[in-house]
Amino acid sequence: MARIIGGVTSSHIPAVGNAIANNQTQEPYWKRFFDGYKPAQAWLSEKKPDVAIVVYNDHGLNFFLDKVPTFALGCADTYHNDDEGWALKPVAPFKGDAQFSWHIAESLIQQEFDICTCQEMKVDHGFVNPIRALYGTHEVWPVTTIPLAVNTVQHPVPSALRCYKLGQALRQAVESYPEDLRVVVFGTGGLSHQLQGERAGLIDVEFDLDCMEKIANDPQWMTRFSNSEIMRRAGTEGIETIMWLVMRGALQSNVKVVHKHYHVPISNTGAGVLVLENYG
Ligand code: DHB
Ligand code: FE
Repeated sequence: MARIIGGVTSSHIPAVGNAIANNQTQEPYWKRFFDGYKPAQAWLSEKKPDVAIVVYNDHGLNFFLDKVPTFALGCADTYHNDDEGWALKPVAPFKGDAQFSWHIAESLIQQEFDICTCQEMKVDHGFVNPIRALYGTHEVWPVTTIPLAVNTVQHPVPSALRCYKLGQALRQAVESYPEDLRVVVFGTGGLSHQLQGERAGLIDVEFDLDCMEKIANDPQWMTRFSNSEIMRRAGTEGIETIMWLVMRGALQSNVKVVHKHYHVPISNTGAGVLVLENYG
Protein backbone atom coordinates (compact mmCIF):
# COMPACT_ATOMS: atom_id res chain seq x y z
CA MET A 1 0.00 0.00 0.00
CA ALA A 2 1.22 3.51 -0.71
CA ARG A 3 1.68 5.71 2.32
CA ILE A 4 2.50 9.31 3.04
CA ILE A 5 5.64 9.64 5.12
CA GLY A 6 5.50 13.41 5.59
CA GLY A 7 5.32 16.85 4.07
CA VAL A 8 7.71 19.67 3.28
CA THR A 9 7.01 23.34 2.58
CA SER A 10 9.04 25.66 0.42
CA SER A 11 8.83 29.05 -1.20
CA HIS A 12 9.25 29.06 -5.00
CA ILE A 13 10.46 32.52 -6.00
CA PRO A 14 12.05 32.65 -9.47
CA ALA A 15 15.20 34.30 -8.08
CA VAL A 16 15.94 31.01 -6.26
CA GLY A 17 16.33 29.25 -9.62
CA ASN A 18 18.57 32.07 -10.77
CA ALA A 19 20.76 31.85 -7.65
CA ILE A 20 21.13 28.07 -8.07
CA ALA A 21 21.86 28.31 -11.81
CA ASN A 22 24.49 30.99 -11.26
CA ASN A 23 26.19 29.40 -8.22
CA GLN A 24 25.21 32.22 -5.87
CA THR A 25 23.81 30.08 -3.07
CA GLN A 26 26.79 30.72 -0.76
CA GLU A 27 26.82 34.48 -1.33
CA PRO A 28 25.88 36.58 1.73
CA TYR A 29 22.41 37.46 0.41
CA TRP A 30 21.47 33.81 -0.17
CA LYS A 31 23.49 31.76 2.31
CA ARG A 32 21.10 31.78 5.25
CA PHE A 33 18.11 31.08 3.01
CA PHE A 34 19.74 28.04 1.41
CA ASP A 35 21.19 26.85 4.75
CA GLY A 36 17.59 26.54 5.88
CA TYR A 37 17.13 23.72 3.35
CA LYS A 38 19.98 21.54 4.59
CA PRO A 39 18.00 19.61 7.26
CA ALA A 40 15.15 19.14 4.75
CA GLN A 41 17.60 17.80 2.17
CA ALA A 42 19.08 15.46 4.79
CA TRP A 43 15.60 14.23 5.77
CA LEU A 44 14.72 13.53 2.13
CA SER A 45 17.99 11.71 1.48
CA GLU A 46 17.47 9.60 4.62
CA LYS A 47 13.79 8.80 3.98
CA LYS A 48 14.12 8.46 0.19
CA PRO A 49 10.48 8.88 -0.78
CA ASP A 50 9.63 7.26 -4.11
CA VAL A 51 7.12 9.90 -5.13
CA ALA A 52 6.70 13.61 -4.37
CA ILE A 53 3.25 15.07 -4.89
CA VAL A 54 4.05 18.72 -5.52
CA VAL A 55 1.22 21.10 -4.65
CA TYR A 56 2.00 24.31 -6.49
CA ASN A 57 0.43 27.08 -8.52
CA ASP A 58 1.03 27.72 -12.17
CA HIS A 59 1.85 31.37 -12.97
CA GLY A 60 0.84 31.43 -16.65
CA LEU A 61 3.19 28.86 -18.20
CA ASN A 62 0.73 25.97 -18.49
CA PHE A 63 -2.59 27.70 -17.83
CA PHE A 64 -3.11 31.21 -19.08
CA LEU A 65 -5.86 33.46 -17.71
CA ASP A 66 -8.34 32.40 -20.37
CA LYS A 67 -8.58 28.89 -18.88
CA VAL A 68 -7.73 28.34 -15.23
CA PRO A 69 -8.77 25.15 -13.45
CA THR A 70 -9.22 25.44 -9.69
CA PHE A 71 -7.39 22.14 -9.10
CA ALA A 72 -5.45 20.28 -11.78
CA LEU A 73 -3.57 16.99 -11.48
CA GLY A 74 -0.72 15.92 -13.75
CA CYS A 75 -1.52 12.50 -15.26
CA ALA A 76 1.58 12.02 -17.38
CA ASP A 77 4.80 10.00 -17.28
CA THR A 78 6.92 13.09 -18.01
CA TYR A 79 6.68 16.80 -17.17
CA HIS A 80 8.67 19.46 -18.96
CA ASN A 81 9.82 22.82 -17.67
CA ASP A 82 9.98 25.71 -20.14
CA ASP A 83 11.33 29.21 -20.57
CA GLU A 84 9.38 31.68 -18.42
CA GLY A 85 11.24 34.73 -19.59
CA TRP A 86 13.78 34.79 -16.76
CA ALA A 87 16.66 33.86 -19.09
CA LEU A 88 16.95 30.61 -17.16
CA LYS A 89 17.69 27.39 -18.99
CA PRO A 90 14.80 24.94 -18.51
CA VAL A 91 15.77 22.06 -16.21
CA ALA A 92 15.69 18.39 -17.20
CA PRO A 93 12.25 16.78 -17.54
CA PHE A 94 10.66 15.23 -14.45
CA LYS A 95 9.54 11.61 -14.33
CA GLY A 96 5.85 11.13 -13.50
CA ASP A 97 3.75 8.07 -12.74
CA ALA A 98 0.62 8.27 -14.88
CA GLN A 99 -0.87 5.11 -13.41
CA PHE A 100 -0.65 6.43 -9.85
CA SER A 101 -1.97 9.81 -11.01
CA TRP A 102 -5.05 8.24 -12.58
CA HIS A 103 -5.71 6.36 -9.37
CA ILE A 104 -5.47 9.63 -7.43
CA ALA A 105 -7.74 11.38 -9.94
CA GLU A 106 -10.34 8.65 -9.70
CA SER A 107 -10.29 8.66 -5.91
CA LEU A 108 -10.45 12.47 -5.67
CA ILE A 109 -13.40 12.62 -8.04
CA GLN A 110 -15.17 9.88 -6.08
CA GLN A 111 -14.62 12.06 -3.02
CA GLU A 112 -16.28 14.97 -4.84
CA PHE A 113 -13.12 16.86 -5.81
CA ASP A 114 -13.79 17.27 -9.52
CA ILE A 115 -10.26 18.11 -10.58
CA CYS A 116 -8.98 18.78 -14.06
CA THR A 117 -6.78 15.91 -15.34
CA CYS A 118 -3.78 16.88 -17.48
CA GLN A 119 -2.02 14.40 -19.74
CA GLU A 120 0.36 17.20 -20.69
CA MET A 121 1.52 19.73 -18.15
CA LYS A 122 4.41 22.17 -18.33
CA VAL A 123 5.79 22.95 -14.90
CA ASP A 124 6.96 26.45 -13.96
CA HIS A 125 9.05 27.96 -11.12
CA GLY A 126 6.29 27.13 -8.64
CA PHE A 127 7.08 23.44 -9.12
CA VAL A 128 10.73 23.48 -10.19
CA ASN A 129 12.32 25.74 -7.59
CA PRO A 130 11.16 23.90 -4.47
CA ILE A 131 12.48 20.66 -6.02
CA ARG A 132 15.81 22.28 -6.90
CA ALA A 133 16.15 23.76 -3.43
CA LEU A 134 15.31 20.42 -1.80
CA TYR A 135 17.21 18.01 -4.07
CA GLY A 136 19.75 20.09 -6.00
CA THR A 137 19.69 20.15 -9.79
CA HIS A 138 19.86 16.85 -11.69
CA GLU A 139 19.78 15.56 -15.23
CA VAL A 140 17.88 12.55 -13.85
CA TRP A 141 15.79 13.65 -10.86
CA PRO A 142 16.04 11.40 -7.79
CA VAL A 143 12.28 11.28 -7.16
CA THR A 144 9.17 10.65 -9.25
CA THR A 145 6.83 13.63 -9.20
CA ILE A 146 3.13 14.28 -9.49
CA PRO A 147 2.10 17.93 -9.99
CA LEU A 148 -1.07 19.10 -8.28
CA ALA A 149 -1.82 22.66 -9.36
CA VAL A 150 -4.04 24.96 -7.29
CA ASN A 151 -5.34 28.21 -8.75
CA THR A 152 -3.97 31.02 -6.58
CA VAL A 153 -3.66 33.46 -9.49
CA GLN A 154 -7.07 34.34 -10.88
CA HIS A 155 -9.98 34.94 -8.54
CA PRO A 156 -12.09 33.23 -7.35
CA VAL A 157 -9.42 31.00 -5.81
CA PRO A 158 -10.35 28.11 -3.49
CA SER A 159 -10.61 28.72 0.24
CA ALA A 160 -8.07 27.63 2.84
CA LEU A 161 -10.65 25.17 4.19
CA ARG A 162 -11.25 23.69 0.74
CA CYS A 163 -7.50 23.20 0.30
CA TYR A 164 -7.25 21.46 3.66
CA LYS A 165 -10.12 19.14 2.69
CA LEU A 166 -8.42 18.42 -0.65
CA GLY A 167 -5.38 17.31 1.35
CA GLN A 168 -7.53 14.95 3.41
CA ALA A 169 -8.98 13.48 0.22
CA LEU A 170 -5.47 13.20 -1.21
CA ARG A 171 -4.40 11.12 1.78
CA GLN A 172 -7.31 8.76 1.19
CA ALA A 173 -6.40 8.58 -2.51
CA VAL A 174 -2.75 7.73 -1.80
CA GLU A 175 -3.52 5.20 0.92
CA SER A 176 -5.91 3.28 -1.32
CA TYR A 177 -3.21 2.64 -3.95
CA PRO A 178 -2.02 -0.95 -3.74
CA GLU A 179 1.64 -0.40 -4.70
CA ASP A 180 4.20 -0.03 -1.90
CA LEU A 181 5.21 3.56 -2.52
CA ARG A 182 6.57 6.02 0.02
CA VAL A 183 5.08 9.40 -0.75
CA VAL A 184 6.02 12.90 0.37
CA VAL A 185 3.79 15.92 -0.23
CA PHE A 186 5.34 19.32 -0.92
CA GLY A 187 3.31 22.42 -0.08
CA THR A 188 4.90 25.25 -2.03
CA GLY A 189 4.62 29.02 -2.44
CA GLY A 190 4.02 31.70 0.19
CA LEU A 191 4.60 33.00 2.68
CA SER A 192 3.54 36.66 2.76
CA HIS A 193 4.26 38.70 -0.34
CA GLN A 194 2.66 41.20 -2.66
CA LEU A 195 4.30 41.87 -6.00
CA GLN A 196 2.24 44.79 -7.28
CA GLY A 197 0.01 47.71 -6.44
CA GLU A 198 0.19 50.19 -3.59
CA ARG A 199 1.15 47.55 -1.06
CA ALA A 200 3.92 45.99 -3.22
CA GLY A 201 6.68 44.69 -0.98
CA LEU A 202 4.34 43.89 1.91
CA ILE A 203 5.61 41.19 4.28
CA ASP A 204 3.99 40.31 7.62
CA VAL A 205 6.52 38.43 9.72
CA GLU A 206 4.13 37.85 12.61
CA PHE A 207 1.52 36.29 10.32
CA ASP A 208 4.17 34.15 8.59
CA LEU A 209 5.46 32.81 11.90
CA ASP A 210 1.91 32.11 13.09
CA CYS A 211 1.18 30.24 9.85
CA MET A 212 4.28 28.10 10.29
CA GLU A 213 3.46 27.29 13.90
CA LYS A 214 -0.24 26.65 13.32
CA ILE A 215 0.10 24.69 10.09
CA ALA A 216 2.34 22.30 12.01
CA ASN A 217 0.34 22.07 15.23
CA ASP A 218 -3.17 23.47 14.70
CA PRO A 219 -3.97 23.56 10.97
CA GLN A 220 -7.68 24.24 11.62
CA TRP A 221 -6.58 27.75 12.70
CA MET A 222 -5.78 28.78 9.14
CA THR A 223 -8.87 27.14 7.64
CA ARG A 224 -10.98 29.71 9.51
CA PHE A 225 -9.61 32.67 7.51
CA SER A 226 -11.40 33.89 4.39
CA ASN A 227 -9.27 34.58 1.34
CA SER A 228 -9.76 38.34 1.84
CA GLU A 229 -8.47 38.07 5.40
CA ILE A 230 -5.42 36.11 4.23
CA MET A 231 -4.67 38.64 1.48
CA ARG A 232 -5.12 41.56 3.84
CA ARG A 233 -2.52 40.06 6.18
CA ALA A 234 -0.21 38.22 3.78
CA GLY A 235 -0.54 40.25 0.57
CA THR A 236 -2.23 39.31 -2.69
CA GLU A 237 0.37 36.68 -3.59
CA GLY A 238 0.55 35.57 0.04
CA ILE A 239 -2.66 33.68 -0.78
CA GLU A 240 -0.30 31.02 -2.19
CA THR A 241 0.11 29.83 1.41
CA ILE A 242 -3.26 28.03 1.16
CA MET A 243 -1.36 25.35 -0.76
CA TRP A 244 0.49 24.44 2.43
CA LEU A 245 -2.88 23.34 3.77
CA VAL A 246 -3.27 20.76 1.01
CA MET A 247 0.00 19.22 2.21
CA ARG A 248 -1.06 19.48 5.85
CA GLY A 249 -4.49 17.94 5.21
CA ALA A 250 -2.74 14.92 3.68
CA LEU A 251 -0.86 14.21 6.93
CA GLN A 252 -1.98 12.75 10.24
CA SER A 253 -3.53 15.13 12.75
CA ASN A 254 -0.47 14.99 15.00
CA VAL A 255 2.87 15.19 13.26
CA LYS A 256 6.49 15.42 14.28
CA VAL A 257 8.08 18.76 13.41
CA VAL A 258 11.46 17.64 12.08
CA HIS A 259 12.62 21.05 10.90
CA LYS A 260 11.44 24.64 10.79
CA HIS A 261 13.25 27.60 9.23
CA TYR A 262 12.09 31.10 8.37
CA HIS A 263 14.03 33.68 6.40
CA VAL A 264 12.97 37.19 5.47
CA PRO A 265 13.10 38.91 3.09
CA ILE A 266 14.22 36.87 0.11
CA SER A 267 13.34 38.69 -3.06
CA ASN A 268 9.89 40.06 -2.07
CA THR A 269 8.88 37.15 0.10
CA GLY A 270 8.90 35.71 3.59
CA ALA A 271 10.20 32.16 3.07
CA GLY A 272 9.54 29.14 5.27
CA VAL A 273 10.82 25.59 5.23
CA LEU A 274 8.91 23.06 7.34
CA VAL A 275 9.51 19.33 7.48
CA LEU A 276 6.60 17.45 9.05
CA GLU A 277 6.73 13.70 9.55
CA ASN A 278 3.89 11.26 10.06
CA TYR A 279 4.29 9.01 13.08
CA GLY A 280 4.75 5.34 12.08
C1 DHB B 1 8.27 36.19 -6.21
C2 DHB B 1 7.44 35.33 -5.50
C3 DHB B 1 6.54 34.53 -6.18
O1 DHB B 1 5.68 33.68 -5.55
C4 DHB B 1 6.49 34.55 -7.57
O2 DHB B 1 5.65 33.69 -8.19
C5 DHB B 1 7.29 35.42 -8.28
C6 DHB B 1 8.20 36.24 -7.60
C7 DHB B 1 9.25 37.07 -5.50
O3 DHB B 1 9.21 37.17 -4.26
O4 DHB B 1 10.12 37.61 -6.16
FE1 FE C 1 4.40 32.62 -6.87
